[in-house]
Amino acid sequence: MSEVFARRVSLAITGASGVQYALRLLECLVAADCQVFLMISKAAQVVVATETTLGLPGAAEQQEIFLSAKYQARSGQIKVFGREQWMAPVASGSGAPSSMVICPCSTGTLSAIACGASNNLIERAADVALKERRQLILVPREAPFSEIHLENMLKLSRMGAVVLPACPGFYHQPTTIDDLIDFVVARILSQLGLEHALLPRWGEKYI
Ligand SMILES: Cc1cc2nc3c(=O)[nH]c(=O)nc-3n(C[C@H](O)[C@H](O)[C@H](O)COP(=O)(O)O)c2cc1C
Repeated sequence: MSEVFARRVSLAITGASGVQYALRLLECLVAADCQVFLMISKAAQVVVATETTLGLPGAAEQQEIFLSAKYQARSGQIKVFGREQWMAPVASGSGAPSSMVICPCSTGTLSAIACGASNNLIERAADVALKERRQLILVPREAPFSEIHLENMLKLSRMGAVVLPACPGFYHQPTTIDDLIDFVVARILSQLGLEHALLPRWGEKYI
């Protein structure tokens, strides 16, 4: 019998710096009993190897086993799909969850989505989210932004995507890197409408 989860969310991790945001988000989504349809680009795997000591395997099936164990996911809670797995639910409006997050979102993927390239499963899943008018949350990280990046973000924002830059604030007086990561992840969870206690809400503590 297939397991029932509180919610389904697609999460794509692309090759921008800040994979820690994605890993923390995945942990929070699992804790919130979401089923996560996960996609990890090739470049993201290079970033994982550069920025962490995680030891993430390369193949989708192995990633699924590894991440499910790491975050103590229920059976079937984390489903990892490969870059050309076109039969995955996320590749069609009839199977895709109501929300998709791309975190972090490289400027390359941003541009591919803005022009509808759909050359890999991440780009296709984002294209599906846009055509179906579903929630698409993009977490770009680049500095500075070129006019191309800004135009792509404006175009996607006008189509209904939420552009939520990996750009932590400091008014919560962070003392650790985890505090900075949680600042961004809290924003994403709030966009998804998921309750969390990663940060006090504005007005509860800061005034
Ligand atoms: C360690 C590392 C850090 C990177 N950081 C960024 C970044 O912050 N933002 C970005 O847009 N691209 C960054 N890149 C470049 C992208 O990974 C590259 O453009 C890649 O083609 C993106 O592919 P993807 O969108 O399929 O993941 C980085 C690459 C590496 C290896």
